[in-house]
Amino acid sequence: MACRQQITPALRRLARSGTSELSRKSARSCAQSIARAGASNGSRCFSSSQQRRLQQTTPRHGQAKDEFTSTKYPEIKRDDRFSRLTPDHVAYFRDLLGDNGSALIDGVNGAADDDLAPFNSDWMRKYRGHCQLVLKPSTTEEFSKILRYCNEHMLAVVPQGGNTGLVGGSVPVFDEIVLSMSRMSRILDFDEVSGTLVAEAGVILEVADQFLASKGYIFPLDLGAKGSCQLGGNLATNAGGLRLLRYGSLHGTVLGIEAVLPDGTVVDDLSRLRKNNTGYDLKQLFIGAEGTLGVITKVSIQCPQRPAAQNVAFFGLESYEQCQKAFREAKGQLSEILSAFELMDEGSQALVHRVTGNKRPLESTYPFYCLIETSGSNVDHDSEKLQNFLESVMEQGVVADGTLAQDETQLRSLWSWREGITEALGHLGGVYKYDVSIPLPQMYQLVEDTRARVAEAGLLGDSESDPVRAVVGYGHMGDSNLHLNVATRAFDERVEKVLEPFVYEWIAERQGSISAEHGLGLAKKKFIGYSRSPIMVGLMKQIKGLYDPKGIMNPYKYI
Ligand code: FAD
Ligand code: MLT
Ligand code: ZN
Repeated sequence: MACRQQITPALRRLARSGTSELSRKSARSCAQSIARAGASNGSRCFSSSQQRRLQQTTPRHGQAKDEFTSTKYPEIKRDDRFSRLTPDHVAYFRDLLGDNGSALIDGVNGAADDDLAPFNSDWMRKYRGHCQLVLKPSTTEEFSKILRYCNEHMLAVVPQGGNTGLVGGSVPVFDEIVLSMSRMSRILDFDEVSGTLVAEAGVILEVADQFLASKGYIFPLDLGAKGSCQLGGNLATNAGGLRLLRYGSLHGTVLGIEAVLPDGTVVDDLSRLRKNNTGYDLKQLFIGAEGTLGVITKVSIQCPQRPAAQNVAFFGLESYEQCQKAFREAKGQLSEILSAFELMDEGSQALVHRVTGNKRPLESTYPFYCLIETSGSNVDHDSEKLQNFLESVMEQGVVADGTLAQDETQLRSLWSWREGITEALGHLGGVYKYDVSIPLPQMYQLVEDTRARVAEAGLLGDSESDPVRAVVGYGHMGDSNLHLNVATRAFDERVEKVLEPFVYEWIAERQGSISAEHGLGLAKKKFIGYSRSPIMVGLMKQIKGLYDPKGIMNPYKYI
């Protein structure tokens, strides 16, 4: 950590003196070596295996025993129009997919609870369905035949990708059939000149990114669950992630999709064109539809060139006001090389520390931390910009302390303090998650107001009898996207009542969005009216009725 040893005391000195005594030479040579180390090691490839290991080996404690969604929310009633599965239905699917254990999990003709369990429970262990049948088609034609049959026989279905969704959209509520995308996992084509990738929807995000890395390209979306989530799931949720600031939304980067409608119709809009103004852009409807209109089976996406140089800096700041100043400076000074600007509060970092036991990046604690990533094509150019930025925020006293990654290990380690928050929270108990867009000046106030409200209700504390452990905030500051998380010892109705509709009313008063990037699923369905007008919700319902007149696609959710 030679670099950190140089920079951290220097930053601290500056913070104390308020002068520009930083040894420009040491900062400059340090930043240069950092940038070079980053470049020579290629770019970040964080997450997958580490994240997956954690998920598989460490139990989460959301509830003493995972409760069924139907028990927890008795007001949601099974739609009697849907048929109940029979052995005859299963026989049809078995005939279609082959008598192949890997294509079908059958709990209708015999007990298969253990095999079905992972498909019934969501990542947060908050929602649990009663699904008795999982189908894993491996071609578009199989999807088409399955959906046509389900539509004719009034069998409800839930498309499921990596099952990392955070709003309860990916698991059944009652006995819906799970349509797993796991066998649609082929990369179909890549154009090395344009950077256009065509792949099946079940390709895991990290697999796609590693493939692209071998060609000198990068997937324009990155998120902590990349080792498990799939491209189809990413599109279906319109996932935003860590670099939206740089590469934009999937609404801009996706060039085409192939989708299967509930009646079996295959919509082939797998365009590879960047420009195509011929009529309504129908693919956009499937991006963010969370499996309510049809199943996305293939994806065509525009991928940027992989950056040759990447740098990551991690700062401690004394106030949210200073975070805003740092962001403003970063945009102004780093401009085109800025690829991420992430915010974490001390509460979130203390939780990561508590769960992982890892040494914290900075020697002292601060109320706020920012992680800044740069990605560029010219090492010297990027280094110079970053040096100037660092000197400037230090001189102005915007940043209280900081450290820079000087090799890929440190770069990953710094990212893990941001990306590891979700996992850390999940290990502590039940988490009430709010993923919101709010104008930046007011953004963190939501965390403070919520914390005060929970404390006033007598629910927050360190003792085992206090339901709430912590109210924390973190998120994609570059996108005005805050993740307000209320970490409880176990999901608790008293807590939920204090939080909802309070949080949604707070957001609506400031013209924010109750779902910035995770979607609506089951969790937010009934709150859509806080962010969308009755006219818009009415139009959405008409669209749903047009695409899925019988309502078999992912029922009970979204709108
Ligand atoms: P699933 O969870 O399986 O499904 C999600 C929804 O999409 C469901 O409604 C499902 O029915 C539907 N669906 C899935 N596949 C298809 C398909 N092929 N066709 C039609 N519908 C389909 N989200 C962000 O936006 N930004 C983040 O930074 C972020 N970080 C995360 C970090 C962690 C640790 C975790 C656990 C989640 C994170 N998420 C984030 C949540 C995010 O929604 C998912 O990670 C991802 O986009 C969902 O993909 P999936 O394949 O797991 O989909
Ligand atoms: C993130 O930004 O870490 C994800 O959206 C997941 C979360 O909100 O916890
Ligand atoms: Zn996020």
